[in-house]
Amino acid sequence: MQLRPSKDGEAVRLAGRDCMRETTGKGRFITLEGGEGAGKSTNLEYLRNALERAGIELLVTREPGGTLLGEKIRGLLLDPDNTAMSDDAEMLLMFAARAQHIHQLIMPALEQGTWVICDRFTDATYAYQGGGRGVDPRRIEVLEQWAQRGFQPDLTILFDLPVEIGLQRAGARGDLDRFEREQTAFFERVRNAYLDRAKHDPARFRTVDAGQDLIQVQQQLDTIIGELLMIAGCGD
Ligand code: TMP
Repeated sequence: MQLRPSKDGEAVRLAGRDCMRETTGKGRFITLEGGEGAGKSTNLEYLRNALERAGIELLVTREPGGTLLGEKIRGLLLDPDNTAMSDDAEMLLMFAARAQHIHQLIMPALEQGTWVICDRFTDATYAYQGGGRGVDPRRIEVLEQWAQRGFQPDLTILFDLPVEIGLQRAGARGDLDRFEREQTAFFERVRNAYLDRAKHDPARFRTVDAGQDLIQVQQQLDTIIGELLMIAGCGD
């Protein structure tokens, strides 16, 4: 069962994937998730190119961030100098950025029929703040309900890979942000929380083995892209 926004911003229920085809013409909300160094950025470009080639109008954005306010909040969240930030403050900042993002960018785009691809969304809060920091998921649910009122991604692509490989890749990029400085055990908890969410919502999640070579990862993505093109009404 998927939840999608209606014109007045309230959530309405759609009966799964068949119904997506019936609603062709409305924007779709696709999120990309994964641990550090999972290759989301490279694969996001691949996905963007494939969908744009098919004539789908797209907005690509990210969390935390996406809006001017959200990007300022992102700066606070990622700044390694903010060592005193409490887990609650961190979680509330994530949702403050998200509330602005949904209101200012995501919802208006979807209402216009533009598809939105978002690099991370609320699953990241369950994985990082819930799994990583140990925040009670029921507290996250309260904020999720408050900020999103049932609004959920139509499809979430989880790029999964062993933590060690991801950290090696992320480390090679240079300066580490406040999250990238965490210990391996933190990222193991993040990974497990993501996999757990994917397991419990197979209708929404597609899990990609991101530990493989780029070509093989993109082959996995091709299958998902085919599915998305069907949803858009431009598949076979
Ligand atoms: P990025 O560098 O992949 O864009 O993500 C920024 C960092 O923010 C990443 O380490 C994950 C973290 N994050 C959370 O902890 N909770 C969230 O809800 C989101 C969206 C990101």
